[in-house]
Amino acid sequence: MSDASADSRVTLRTLRQWVRAGEKFPMLTCYDATTARWLWKGGVRTLLVGDTAAEMILGHDSTLPAPMSFLVELTAAVRRGAPHAFIMADMPFGSYHCGDDQAMASAVRFLTEGCADAVKLEVDSSFAPLVERMVHAGIPVVAHVGSRPQQVRQRGGYGSVGRSQREADEIVATAGEMVQRGAAMLLVEAVPAEVSQRIVKLAVSPKSTEPVPVVGCGAGPDCHGHVVVLHDLVGLTGWHPPFVHPVAAMGEALEQAAAEWAKDVKSGNYLAKDHPYRMG
Ligand code: KIV
Repeated sequence: MSDASADSRVTLRTLRQWVRAGEKFPMLTCYDATTARWLWKGGVRTLLVGDTAAEMILGHDSTLPAPMSFLVELTAAVRRGAPHAFIMADMPFGSYHCGDDQAMASAVRFLTEGCADAVKLEVDSSFAPLVERMVHAGIPVVAHVGSRPQQVRQRGGYGSVGRSQREADEIVATAGEMVQRGAAMLLVEAVPAEVSQRIVKLAVSPKSTEPVPVVGCGAGPDCHGHVVVLHDLVGLTGWHPPFVHPVAAMGEALEQAAAEWAKDVKSGNYLAKDHPYRMG
């Protein structure tokens, strides 16, 4: 990722260059400025301020209660922490379902107050006119297809999708329609590899002038980029989806740090000899 040095801003143009050059890009969810700074230092140039903040930060059991203003604030915080990163903001449940005008206003807030580079919406084909309207207004749209966690109540749970021919065809058709309507990127969640392969093919067609980067979340190896929830990756969650391979045990590290601190304070020795402030 030569063009994503520590001081050049990563934009949609950069992502398209990576796609053309066959460079895969890592993306992680991020919900605060400090973490954004460390992820950038680690070489992660694309961040998703996901509605999973409802689960990871607020402690809910689904993404549905993610408050709109809260996510806008978090997006702005992540921007402050990683000023050069490509930041994708997740439009929460209810922020684009109560009419197209409401959806436009929500998306605009993410780009203006949140300083995001793009907004992500969970879509089926009925969202095509809205996506087109956003694109015409200059809003870079990421169309999230495949498993759509905001449908959890309707489906009665989470799970992979696109395992039958009919469902696979439907997902690929929705992705194709979103590309036709001008979506800047696609995010494909929890589908078999055959489904994302078909989506990648239509997103980088020789006929289209610009490739449409495809980010997978448990969607097989062919996607241009891959995203997972940071907390799952670093071992902060008790359970993680089967496509996440944790690379750290930060939950245990935090537990140990808390125990050390507790021991120090309870012993009565803390600051007994080395208090930094003295009179006079
Ligand atoms: O909100 C989120 O974290 C997401 C990813 C899991 C794709 O949408």
